[in-house]
Amino acid sequence: MSDMKGKTLVITGATKGIGRATAEKFAQNGVNVAFTYNSNKDAADAIAAELEEKYGIKAKAYPLDILDTDQFKPLFEAIDEDFDRVDFFVSNAMIYGRPVVGGYGKFMKLRPKKGLTNIYTATVGAFVAGSQEAAKRMEKIGGGSIVTLSSTGNLIYIENYAGHGTNKAAVEAMARYAAVELGEMGIRVNAVSGGPIETDALRAFTNYEEVKAETIKRSALDRMGTPEDLAGAIYFLCTDEASWITGQTIVVDGGTTFR
Ligand SMILES: NC(=O)c1ccc[n+]([C@@H]2O[C@H](COP(=O)([O-])OP(=O)(O)OC[C@H]3O[C@@H](n4cnc5c(N)ncnc54)[C@H](OP(=O)(O)O)[C@@H]3O)[C@@H](O)[C@H]2O)c1
Repeated sequence: MSDMKGKTLVITGATKGIGRATAEKFAQNGVNVAFTYNSNKDAADAIAAELEEKYGIKAKAYPLDILDTDQFKPLFEAIDEDFDRVDFFVSNAMIYGRPVVGGYGKFMKLRPKKGLTNIYTATVGAFVAGSQEAAKRMEKIGGGSIVTLSSTGNLIYIENYAGHGTNKAAVEAMARYAAVELGEMGIRVNAVSGGPIETDALRAFTNYEEVKAETIKRSALDRMGTPEDLAGAIYFLCTDEASWITGQTIVVDGGTTFR
């Protein structure tokens, strides 16, 4: 079993959903956690305090807007002040609501210069900018692991999901390129592609009830996915047990994609 104690995870968007569950999974295993929030500062500070109290690790929340990728450099500089190393980076945060107008919707309603571009920035741009900063730190300690979130909406049709689905396909491809070029630094790069997971992001879907019912129907396990289901796969990819896995996408979908 790999010893994760004393290592540091940097993860974007850990105020709730998959990010929150992932931060907790690492903390449970003795990993210090630097994570970001966008609008929910109070929730983020409460989570940091809770993780420190429950698991005896160091946890701290930092503000970040993934639509402004210039913020990653000062973010990591701030993390350098508080943490002595960066071992893992998880690119998880995602935009929803107003910024995705023109990006979340039917094909004929897509607006390349508005929502679609925002989704690209939030998905591929944020992965690139965050991974570049993380890799500089990982190189200094002889390696690390980077994971980006993806979604099975790039493999199967999900209504209104063209903007997200295409950008998830793009970030998986970008992760493979990064894996090849960062391998010489001892850094592994992978994607976790989730089927529909019960979170606020999914509840924001206009056809949420339909997606939920369809997911349960299609799942070989007869249930919806939970944030913890993805956190386990993300954690595994960061352990030594995954030491020969790089440039891959692991699909974690309860069997929904094949059915
Ligand atoms: N839910 C699913 O069905 C599903 C399936 C497969 C993959 N995924 C992927 O998993 C990841 C997490 O999704 P989720 O469902 O867990 O989402 P979520 O529960 O809605 O959480 C989104 C997170 O992103 C942050 N965020 C929102 N806008 C931001 C911005 N402009 N800049 C920086 N951070 C921002 C939020 O921070 P604040 O709360 O502070 O605003 C929050 O922490 C996403 O990449 C998503 O595409 C989700």
